[in-house]
Amino acid sequence: MDFYDRDIVSIRDFTREEIEYLLDLSEKMMPYATGDKTGRLLDGKILGNLFFEPSTRTKLSFESAACRLGCDVIDVSEMSMTSISKGETLADTIRMVDAYCDLIVLRHPYEGAARLAAKFSQNPVINAGDGAGSHPTQTLLDLFTMRQSKGSLDGLNVVLVGDLKYGRTVHSLAEALTMFGAKLTLVAPDTLQMPDEIVNHIKDKGCDPVKTANLEDVIDKADVLYITRIQRERFPDPTEYKKVAGMYRIDNAMLREAMSDMIVMHPLPRIDEIAPEVDSSEHAKYFQQAFNGVPVRMALLCAILGGELP
Ligand code: NCD
Repeated sequence: MDFYDRDIVSIRDFTREEIEYLLDLSEKMMPYATGDKTGRLLDGKILGNLFFEPSTRTKLSFESAACRLGCDVIDVSEMSMTSISKGETLADTIRMVDAYCDLIVLRHPYEGAARLAAKFSQNPVINAGDGAGSHPTQTLLDLFTMRQSKGSLDGLNVVLVGDLKYGRTVHSLAEALTMFGAKLTLVAPDTLQMPDEIVNHIKDKGCDPVKTANLEDVIDKADVLYITRIQRERFPDPTEYKKVAGMYRIDNAMLREAMSDMIVMHPLPRIDEIAPEVDSSEHAKYFQQAFNGVPVRMALLCAILGGELP
């Protein structure tokens, strides 16, 4: 399996076998991610973290993954602190950062930004979220979490709930799950349903998703309930956001309808989609999911930068 020097822009760039290889490698990274084992597998490398949108988990888990493997990190977190604020183009910024590091991790408000960056960078670029586009590394950790909890990814019944229009995590996830023969249910109001481009893509690949606005009707069949935040910052009109805000909320009463081994996932941050009482239930996997960003990103960094593999 050859990931050396590869850009990670979309989950569509992967085959099912490649995803399985990375998940297996992530498993081997687990003791390094917890700190039980140490090793400078990426000694002498430099990661450039460019986050032009807010991030806690993605940015810090890339940093944690890099630091624990002996890879140094340079970063910029605000466009206002870069020459972009002086009028520099993204292409020029990327060319410069490229010269200072071995791999660029980019989060950007515009869809397509990572694809553009990959064109201008000699070194590999990882898409850490491009506007309402996609978020392939989140998908890898989502799949890792599902496999960890359910034993296998094959044929899972997955219910995706919330902002399926602007939520980039569910775009990549729906595409990846299709490679594993998942049955997908898309729960959202019509105005926030999955974009046609993605639905057509997964249909072409053999998945025929069910669409509904009513979570209560489908929760009892789910192996995985993946709920997302309504992406307030992407709404052109704030009154449209108010109409859908708070529409879905998981609480313990609702979970009584679910199968006992159904898992609840969320890419986080949550606003009010999951009641805090759910945190202590057996169903809750979202904090484990967030931690899993570390071993999964370790695996990716090692595979792309040619690090010594465990
Ligand atoms: C998500 C994102 O940034 O797309 N968060 C994440 O990376 N874990 C989800 C969100 O912001 O709602």
